[in-house]
Amino acid sequence: MVVIGGPSSQLLAGRVAAILGEELAMADYKVFPDGEAYSQVATALGDEVTVIQSTPTDRDIICLMQLLDICQGKKISLVIPYFGYARQDKIFKPGEPMTARAVAHALNPFLCEGSRVYTINIHARSVLDHFKPLSQNLDATPLLSQALARMNLMKPVVISPDKGAVHMAQEAAKGLGAECDYLQKTRLSGTEVSMAPKEIDVSGRDVVIVDDMIATGGTMATAISMLKAQGAVMVFLATVHPVLTGNALLKLYRSGVEAVVATDTLDKGVSTVSVASMIAQAIRANRA
Ligand code: R5P
Repeated sequence: MVVIGGPSSQLLAGRVAAILGEELAMADYKVFPDGEAYSQVATALGDEVTVIQSTPTDRDIICLMQLLDICQGKKISLVIPYFGYARQDKIFKPGEPMTARAVAHALNPFLCEGSRVYTINIHARSVLDHFKPLSQNLDATPLLSQALARMNLMKPVVISPDKGAVHMAQEAAKGLGAECDYLQKTRLSGTEVSMAPKEIDVSGRDVVIVDDMIATGGTMATAISMLKAQGAVMVFLATVHPVLTGNALLKLYRSGVEAVVATDTLDKGVSTVSVASMIAQAIRANRA
């Protein structure tokens, strides 16, 4: 089996291939002057392939489709570590598309019998229902928890920025043996959020805020400032998907974050926790 790393998941694909002891394909990715994407896989492929490609941008979705087109007719383990558009998992207003469904439907024709789809902490699990092959959502929270446990936090409290994501915070708190709570969040605009006061007293304690993704950093920056104002000593952020658009890191550090701990579903400077073993294990288990 050859492992193909898409343009946005080259490092992760390299790690997964090394753990599996499988060949990592040589591939070429370019962008034409008009903005169109070009992909070419130079390695000969057998009947079975693993394709790993996160889709933080529209072009990454096109590159993924190009790779799947190259692999037509093969049994594919498709790993989409960060699945863009997963937040558009519902029709919130009449006339809107369910974009996550549209993306899944665009990929389905490439996935023949025996193929599998893997995501990691996808924002809405319901998105997986739109895939034809069997799909599996892997949970990186225990990996984040293990990394946090090595940081010797003082009387840690794990906080979710909203009630919807509290299961992640609970899971992380369990791994740390810490208390857990959530903040009430009100979205004011696409980039601004406000937080309602919460119950737990963070005064004199270290706090870890856990969320599935950090995009603009607006949610987290507000939470950090609020928790610091309430007397938190050090505030850490733990996230699976460090999308980190624009000046997100500047916002977070200006708000007083101590450190950002993230996984390599997206290859950023803060991606210190690797999900490669977890992916390799899942692929291996399903091939056995
Ligand atoms: C929202 O439901 C997600 O879980 C994140 O909280 C959100 O997408 C983060 O966005 P931002 O970093 O732009 O505040």
